[in-house]
Amino acid sequence: MNLLLLGATGLVGRHVLEFALADPRVRRVAAPTRRPLAAHEKLANLVDPDIARLAGDEALWPADAVACALGTTLRQAGSREAFRRADHDLPLVFARAARERGTGTFALVSSIGASPRSAFFYLRTKGELERDLAALGFPSLFVARPNFIEGSRSEPRRSESLTRGILRGLGPVLPRGMRANPAEAIARALLEATVTPSAGVRIVGSAAFAGG
Ligand SMILES: NC(=O)c1ccc[n+]([C@@H]2O[C@H](COP(=O)([O-])OP(=O)(O)OC[C@H]3O[C@@H](n4cnc5c(N)ncnc54)[C@H](OP(=O)(O)O)[C@@H]3O)[C@@H](O)[C@H]2O)c1
Repeated sequence: MNLLLLGATGLVGRHVLEFALADPRVRRVAAPTRRPLAAHEKLANLVDPDIARLAGDEALWPADAVACALGTTLRQAGSREAFRRADHDLPLVFARAARERGTGTFALVSSIGASPRSAFFYLRTKGELERDLAALGFPSLFVARPNFIEGSRSEPRRSESLTRGILRGLGPVLPRGMRANPAEAIARALLEATVTPSAGVRIVGSAAFAGG
């Protein structure tokens, strides 16, 4: 199968890329990114500081499935508008391009608590993306709703180290749904949802990705 991967330079996306390149069921990975990826014979990496401009580039298509681990934080984005563009608008640009080209499967990393009715801007944005993706009518839509994602970042986020420490300490006594979620577990589920898609909308909560 041909996979189009969004967010391939990120914590979850890097693992999806690694697993997909090693998976004999995946013939080709197309990855639009802002920063170049290491070359690989199965990888088509298109680079543009504004990846929206790449959505219509036929070098990315056709794709049997799109996996999306794209996203930012309000702090990194710098404004609500910039955050919404990365976490809502960009995934939808590629989702629409995918539907126009007959792609049947979309797999998304969303968030625990995502809801279009949330009082929190971050969770409302995630919920609106889920809602707008569902409206596009992919035959298979997989939504992972992780809790705190654990893994090593190239640029560690200081604000996350306290959460990580607390969740690590309490992990064994917390209910599974409240534990940290290793990035690898989410990446494996995302890839599997694209390689062996199931019909309809499937939402998977954080307990499924819980670490120890
Ligand atoms: N981290 C958590 O604890 C947590 C918890 C629940 C849900 N989530 C969600 O899970 C998803 C994956 O999280 P993660 O921690 O793996 O994210 P991450 O490490 O921050 O990676 C995000 C990816 O999105 C790309 N990106 C961000 N803004 C972009 C833009 N404007 N244009 C193009 N690419 C852009 C980044 O590219 P660059 O490398 O170019 O920046 C990177 O590839 C995100 O949607 C996040 O909101 C995260």
